[in-house]
Amino acid sequence: MPYPPYFDDPMIQVLQGNLPLFLVLSFMLSVIINTKNLVYEKERKLKESMKLMGLHASVHWVSWFLTFAIYLVPAMLVYTLLFGLNIAGGKMGPVLENTDSSLFFVFLLCYGFALITFCFMLSTFAQKANVGAALSGIAFIGFFFPWYILSPKYDRVSKKTKVTAGLLFNCAMALGSNIISMNEGTGEGAQWSNFHKPAVIGENLSLLECMLLMLFDSLLHCIITWYVDNIQPGEFGVPKPLYFPFTKAYWVGGPKASFNPVYEFENSDTKHFERDPSGLNAGIKIAQLRKRFGKKVAVEGTSLKMYEGQITALLGHNGAGKTTTMSMLTGFITPTSGTAEVNGCDIRHDIDGVRKSLGLCPQHNILFDSMTVKEHLIFFATLKGVKRSEIKNEVMTTVKEVGLETKVHFRSHELSGGQKRKLSVGIALIGGSKIVILDEPTSGMDPSARRQTWSVLQRAREGRTVVLSTHYMDEADLLGDRIAIMAEGVVKCCGSSMFLKKLYGVGYHLVMVKGFDCKVDSLTRVVQSHVPTAELESVINTEVSYILPHNESARFPALFTELDEHKDQLGITSFGTSATTMEEVFLKVGENARFEHEGPLRIGVEDSTKNDASGTVNSNIGINESVNLVSEKTDKGKDVAKDPPSRSKTSFNELEKTSPVDMMYQPREVLPTPDINAFNKGFVKKTGLSLSLAIMKALIVKKALHTWRNQFITSVQLLLP
Ligand SMILES: Nc1ncnc2c1ncn2[C@@H]1O[C@H](COP(=O)(O)OP(=O)(O)OP(=O)(O)O)[C@@H](O)[C@H]1O
Ligand SMILES: [Mg+2]
Repeated sequence: MPYPPYFDDPMIQVLQGNLPLFLVLSFMLSVIINTKNLVYEKERKLKESMKLMGLHASVHWVSWFLTFAIYLVPAMLVYTLLFGLNIAGGKMGPVLENTDSSLFFVFLLCYGFALITFCFMLSTFAQKANVGAALSGIAFIGFFFPWYILSPKYDRVSKKTKVTAGLLFNCAMALGSNIISMNEGTGEGAQWSNFHKPAVIGENLSLLECMLLMLFDSLLHCIITWYVDNIQPGEFGVPKPLYFPFTKAYWVGGPKASFNPVYEFENSDTKHFERDPSGLNAGIKIAQLRKRFGKKVAVEGTSLKMYEGQITALLGHNGAGKTTTMSMLTGFITPTSGTAEVNGCDIRHDIDGVRKSLGLCPQHNILFDSMTVKEHLIFFATLKGVKRSEIKNEVMTTVKEVGLETKVHFRSHELSGGQKRKLSVGIALIGGSKIVILDEPTSGMDPSARRQTWSVLQRAREGRTVVLSTHYMDEADLLGDRIAIMAEGVVKCCGSSMFLKKLYGVGYHLVMVKGFDCKVDSLTRVVQSHVPTAELESVINTEVSYILPHNESARFPALFTELDEHKDQLGITSFGTSATTMEEVFLKVGENARFEHEGPLRIGVEDSTKNDASGTVNSNIGINESVNLVSEKTDKGKDVAKDPPSRSKTSFNELEKTSPVDMMYQPREVLPTPDINAFNKGFVKKTGLSLSLAIMKALIVKKALHTWRNQFITSVQLLLP
């Protein structure tokens, strides 16, 4: 059978063998870098944080597509020019002598489309940037590999097999490159006029079909990206059910009331939870919310409401479950059971609705290192839908409110810890978010910055539901219209500061300063003659303290008058009262929670003093030892451990210096004992070679742990040359 004319050009042979490999190697680095960038954003919680400030998933992907395209398209243009360029002064001709450059460019664009969507697809399978990079490199080569099986027997391969191989985009590109080379061989080149036809007799695939295959692959990548991103958003984010594409709710927004199972929003514990304020709308309603991490229950089913126009302060010891609760409210993590309604949207099924009006200041700043303060605020204001004309004003107001006027043009990584917190608070408040969730917003701020933030929050609460967690009792007391206290994952109580102080407070403290001739017994008799239920709390040095119950307040004026009038006879020089502090309430709640879990505590404010028959005070051992520690710290050089009698002489002021919070939450094993004074003292440091060897050993152990915990990367390093 006659065969059409062809060129016997060695360049064609080179092209056929190497053009696909050349293109694969050229774009391999971009694929790895792009995938790594995508996963990095996910790993650093940046993606989820942008989503909860209003970024829609489709916008996220489109913006990344455009970013990658900005790099790829010029590179492809350059390749087209290079392949069509008449090199060596016209003596040798261009690489693709006959092929239409515009067609070759469009062919490369199809490949670029598939490349970008391939990065998207792989990024959904990885949670760590390094894993994403390794995975994309391996998969990229893997998608090209079948070409090496096909190419030696290319003439005998059926069209069906070629199309099947072309479902891997690198194979489709290799098939297309091969056809372009064949077209070159005919002397005709690949042209718009022949690209829909097989290049030579016996060929069963056209260049057009290869380009369509690459576009089809891109579509497949997009579908897989969309599906996996929804069902497995990663460590942070709410996964949708596997069948979500078949639910009406996903496409048109579903009914919001009939979720299964149904949880109870009302809290029946009226003793520890103050009555709901009337006339206020609950911006956040939590119903039996629970979160378990493995065996650890971080949050144990709680029902709680937070109201619009109020600040709800969330208190709790380290590990109480505050951040976990907030993360569930914002959709960073999914609840194990229970639910919550934020601004009327259920967090289980309508997280996008929840996020429409959310402002978050996370415990750990989530900021873009390379963006300035102003750029951050503009970016998040835009995400939250602030109009272009108002953005400038909104940004400048926020900068002023949070006190970052002098740092407007500083990049976030150039800010101090406290300044980063200020920026995070600004991001949470900008754009008029209806629900504002602030996880320890003032941690790391100096006292004046804290006060500035307090006044910003007080002004900002109008029309918003503000939730704030803090370890500062004064902050909770001052800002919290309602205060919820968590312990061991459970919200133990919630109500106004007054309600909680009444519930847990012992009453008022009446503190008197004794003169030389004061008799505590007669003093007690006078106090109890007016307030029979008054109790002697402590007698330390010159201070005598009584507890006066709340419900006896009507009797206080007469008592105070008598004390004032008979000061000299009673032997007192002055007296004063103080109410129960938030700190006492907090400690009491924590103490009760620990008691429920582990039995009675050895230390604690309430148990810290016991009266003996003579009316003097014996501090219990835990307090004494804490006090010793304070004395040692404040009175350097004095060996208090060797001076037991000095314990009971420790002054009330010194007692106050020891934070009861610290005492409360010291693990029992590390209760202060005289030995603790030896902490970090008395050991002999290694030097010279033995120190170097020890450091090397420590580094090797660290590396071994890292290797063991990153098994995927390790396997890749071991298995791939
Ligand atoms: N991803 C996780 N995997 C396993 N356990 C976790 C995880 N996140 C939190 N926990 C556990 O859940 C508990 C509650 O943690 P959470 O961060 O909510 O505490 P917190 O009240 O915010 O404490 P802090 O005041 O220190 O910020 C802790 O015991 C913690 O160890
Ligand atoms: Mg926390």
